[in-house]
Amino acid sequence: MTAVNLGVPVVRSAPDVSARPESPHLVDRFGRVATDLRVSLTDRCNLRCTYCMPAEGLDWLPKPELLSDDELARLVSIAVTRLGVTDVRFTGGEPLLRPGIEKVIAATTALSPRPNTSMTTNGITLAKRAAGLAEAGLDRVNVSLDTLDPARFHEMTRRDRISDVFAGMAAARDAGLTPVKVNSVLLRGVNDDEAVPLLRFALENGYQLRFIEQMPLDPQHGWDRSSMVTAEEILDALGREFTLAPESTDRGGAPAERWLVDGGPAVVGVIASVTRPFCAACDRTRLTADGQLRNCLFSTSETDLRAPLRAGATDEEIADLWRGTMWAKAAGHGINRAGFDQPDRPMSAIGG
Ligand code: 5AD
Ligand code: SF4
Repeated sequence: MTAVNLGVPVVRSAPDVSARPESPHLVDRFGRVATDLRVSLTDRCNLRCTYCMPAEGLDWLPKPELLSDDELARLVSIAVTRLGVTDVRFTGGEPLLRPGIEKVIAATTALSPRPNTSMTTNGITLAKRAAGLAEAGLDRVNVSLDTLDPARFHEMTRRDRISDVFAGMAAARDAGLTPVKVNSVLLRGVNDDEAVPLLRFALENGYQLRFIEQMPLDPQHGWDRSSMVTAEEILDALGREFTLAPESTDRGGAPAERWLVDGGPAVVGVIASVTRPFCAACDRTRLTADGQLRNCLFSTSETDLRAPLRAGATDEEIADLWRGTMWAKAAGHGINRAGFDQPDRPMSAIGG
């Protein structure tokens, strides 16, 4: 279809900030309140998962553009003490590649009120870091693992290091970073036969497994709906081996995300980000390693906090920028709509 220009300018209605109620918290136009902050500590990674990065890696953010430890700690402090953030998750890339993160974690857990803290890591260097992270006050970790097979791990991540991940998970459990959650992404024809073995592995080791549907966030823009393994397929496969019951019936009509396995207490999570989006209940706000604020994984715009921070803005000025950004949060990610626009920034530079 050819577009006909009628000479009428297209005005995208900008969110009306004057309509924002007087609240110190991160409220938006759809009644949501963001209390869960995801902080990406670096965009670098020591794996090269095929669905996330090309073999040669990406153009990493230049060092001067990265927030310093002090700048990071200040932004986290503003979020917790002025904006009502109660949960802080550190992500990457691979967050353990950033030196000195124990300091940032310690500064976070010293805040009042003390937020819950967690980290999403690929586990590669976790074995030697787990005890120190726990000592700095980290509460728990999520470790990414998509396969139990060493050769397949090597193919999927382009690195032969599955034993480091197993050791990292065990060290995290021993250090009390519990519950240790395991994040798995299944890809059709690659590891889609591993739903049941991954769950058995998690049950045997006392880890909590969560499957996540693959989302269109890869830098290669190679995501395609037909190779995504859906939550329904995963639940079908698990249901042939285990008895699954919704953990709670009280989710306001939303599809269950966590299931009791064989009567519990073990649970398995299935996060249907694409086929059953939970945007209406989203409570997240995201900060990238270069100090850009995002109100959604899929936002196509960001608010620069680094420039005002470096230009001497006050805490309250930064807090106001944050409030305005979250007020403008869209209702949903639109993956399932025609004309969906994948964000330029890939997952590894946003943080999972
Ligand atoms: N869709 C869903 N999950 C993804 N991850 C990385 N890329 C994607 C994607 N496109 C996962 C990783 C890790 C976490 C940080 O996000 O597997 O578990
Ligand atoms: Fe690294 Fe995670 Fe991307 Fe794998 S998915 S390359 S572990 S950032």
